[in-house]
Amino acid sequence: MCGIVGYVGRRPGKPIILDGLRRLEYRGYDSAGLTLLEAGGLETVRAVGNLDALFAAVGDGASPATVGLGHTRWATHGSVRVENAHPHADCTGRISVVLNGIIENYKELRAALTARGHRLTSETDAEVVVHLVEEHAGEGLAAAVRAAIPRLEGHFAFCAVSADEPDLVVGTRREAPLVVGVGEDEMFFASAIPAFLSHTREVIVLEDGDVVTLRASGAECTDVAGVSVERAVSVVPWDQDAAEKAGYDTFMLKEINEQPAALRDTLAGRLSEAGDVDLAETGMGDEMLRRLRRIFIVACGTSYHAGLIVSYAIEQLARVPVQIDVASEFRYREPVFDPDTLVIGITQSGETADTLAAMRLARAAGSPVLALCNIMGSQATREADHVLFTRAGLEIGVAATKTHTAQVAALLLLALRLAWARGVQPEAELRRLGHELRAVPEKLEELLARPSAVEEIAARYRDERFFLYLGRGMGFAVCLEGALKLKEISYIPTEAYAAGEMKHGPIALLDKESPVVVVADDSPVFPKLVSNVEEVRARGADVIAVATDGNETIRELSRDVLWVPRTDHHLAPILTVVPLQLLAYHIATLKGYNVDQPRNLAKTVTVE
Ligand code: G6P
Repeated sequence: MCGIVGYVGRRPGKPIILDGLRRLEYRGYDSAGLTLLEAGGLETVRAVGNLDALFAAVGDGASPATVGLGHTRWATHGSVRVENAHPHADCTGRISVVLNGIIENYKELRAALTARGHRLTSETDAEVVVHLVEEHAGEGLAAAVRAAIPRLEGHFAFCAVSADEPDLVVGTRREAPLVVGVGEDEMFFASAIPAFLSHTREVIVLEDGDVVTLRASGAECTDVAGVSVERAVSVVPWDQDAAEKAGYDTFMLKEINEQPAALRDTLAGRLSEAGDVDLAETGMGDEMLRRLRRIFIVACGTSYHAGLIVSYAIEQLARVPVQIDVASEFRYREPVFDPDTLVIGITQSGETADTLAAMRLARAAGSPVLALCNIMGSQATREADHVLFTRAGLEIGVAATKTHTAQVAALLLLALRLAWARGVQPEAELRRLGHELRAVPEKLEELLARPSAVEEIAARYRDERFFLYLGRGMGFAVCLEGALKLKEISYIPTEAYAAGEMKHGPIALLDKESPVVVVADDSPVFPKLVSNVEEVRARGADVIAVATDGNETIRELSRDVLWVPRTDHHLAPILTVVPLQLLAYHIATLKGYNVDQPRNLAKTVTVE
């Protein structure tokens, strides 16, 4: 899940590549590097730490080089040290490669290359690639890349430059992202579009096995055998503003505030004013939805929490059994598939290795697969039978916020359509829920605009050593997400528990003033939750509740309440998670942490 940038054009490449890396830094930030094709040959600079370290190492000096590569790393094979940072060079120092992904057979390749006299200087899997390319360098860089590919097992994208062909960059991909940006007299490679969005919105999305040679004048694409292939240029609808902070201090805060728009866009054209849901775009007709006997949901991280939240709604509304699992478990637990089981892979990036593997497994075993995804053209969308897009726009903050609520909204649409197709709820009730869902973006807008106690609460508890989150039903799933947000950006240990289960363990952790966050939506189990809150209070702990406007019972039981507008309890998770995002945000900010780039994490995890 590293970030790659390649540039060839007429302008000096150094600032363009460094700026591209800044925009990809969310993909990894433990080390970084840059190669420029200078008159005297390749000049490579690498540094450990985030991009500031690379910027300091390369200095402000201008370089006339118009061709180069950049890389920002998230370590997988090999510790975080300068030798393991990319770009990697071959033995002659005339070829340089940056890679994103995993070379699974790198140990064998490394042994074979060493036996053939290559001198490898890093512990990485990536370094073998440049040496394989070197072995065919005499045939030209593109041919050498094509010769290397069949020797590689795994999933990867890489770019190469050679001092012997100083007017081009070659790139290729297999099950890892690599896109081409088409400019005026300049061309770009990048792991993701934001890297070159300030220069061009014209994009070529590559297919697996494409080997592309970029010159300032344009792109030439072949398959691995060298046969020419045509790839269309498309224009992306985002502009540069989407990748900037737009006046906010951080991307995370900007993205929290973009949630109403992300929800509106996700619902647009799919939910009529009358409350009817149309998901014909997915190709899943009512007949197919009627036939389903079971649903598996697989995902990782925050996407898993979105799935868990809506698994309750799918079962309650559509009466289809749902099993949900994290993808890394699911893929190895030998699940039982059949053609009447729909497998939903939820992945905002469309790149998460475990989720993709789980989806592939299901497809190979004959179950239809739906990808719920935020990125057009991503791997998940290519490999699924059906695709439903969230339209949350670009999310840069590593901790997911707007993509999460957009996922919940999209899955709720699916729950409503399923219930409709299966005829298990009165149509009027489904329309009422659809109608309510249409009103949620506005309610969220109002929630974000109203004064809230969240900053004061964050200041009071910022130095706590532990937070417990309690909820029931969908509220429990919201707690898992809230607890994840706090731990990933503030590094405070958290536990999220089903409230009824608290007395079987976590209650032992409570003492006077331990902060306990309670998600109290208006679900039918609210009275049961009240008893659990009483148990917390009896231990002297401080209750911070997230509750619906006007809930007097909760007001009396809690030290603080973060109020949210009233909606149907099936839809409430879209609102109740937002104060938890903000609580995590403010605590982390008060502690002085970089909320957009929490330590050790990466936005997209393309390794197992
Ligand atoms: C990483 C990110 C999370 C994200 C998870 C799944 O862990 O830091 O924010 O929820 O991957 O990503 P996906 O792109 O598959 O939704």
